[in-house]
Amino acid sequence: MRIDIITAVPDLLDSLLGHSIVKRAVEKKLFELQIHSLRDEGLGKYRQIDDYPYGGAAGMVLMAEPLDRMLTKLSERRTYDAIVYLTPDGELWTQNAANQFSLKGNIIMICGHYKGIDQRIRDLWVTHEISIGDFVLSGGEIAAAVLTDSIVRLLPGVLGDMESALSDSFQDSLLAPPVYTRPSEFKGLRVPEVLMSGNFKAIETWNEEEAIKRTKERRPDLLK
Ligand code: ADE
Repeated sequence: MRIDIITAVPDLLDSLLGHSIVKRAVEKKLFELQIHSLRDEGLGKYRQIDDYPYGGAAGMVLMAEPLDRMLTKLSERRTYDAIVYLTPDGELWTQNAANQFSLKGNIIMICGHYKGIDQRIRDLWVTHEISIGDFVLSGGEIAAAVLTDSIVRLLPGVLGDMESALSDSFQDSLLAPPVYTRPSEFKGLRVPEVLMSGNFKAIETWNEEEAIKRTKERRPDLLK
């Protein structure tokens, strides 16, 4: 899989993705990541990438032309299965969406900034508009890092053992059960006996029951 991220602030992504499981996946050659500075396609001497919105609203809008040039160049080199625009008015990102995207080959992610991007880029190029939650970030970079991390950890071979991705919260529409490590007693709190019993059947049952209990308490909407 390959992800190309288009951004006005490439440095922001270097630090977000340069120290994670994503970096390990790149090193193992299981995944390819390219960050593109929109400024490389900026207009004129000052490499302009944004301008005032028509209609007089506050803020700045990323211009159509630099984005169009960048998208044209990228798609001349390979075909993309998805061109994603990160935006608070997009469809909400879920584990289910991460699972589906982990099956794709090449993906472009466009990070908005300021007031967003010219609508014509959305009309002409974008195949998926995605939000990571009902709040507004200063740019799409953190959202692109969220999507990338949640997709890449699902690729075969990226995590040490596939068990740990399969038992994540949300993978079966349930939250994950509590986990413990040594010591068996800490500040008077003991690890549940069953987890130390060595009885794998009983442990599995306990994990299932705790997952259901936690989901009922915290996210009953997931059980519907
Ligand atoms: N850009 C700004 N806010 C965002 C959000 N909530 N999700 C995705 N991209 C965004």
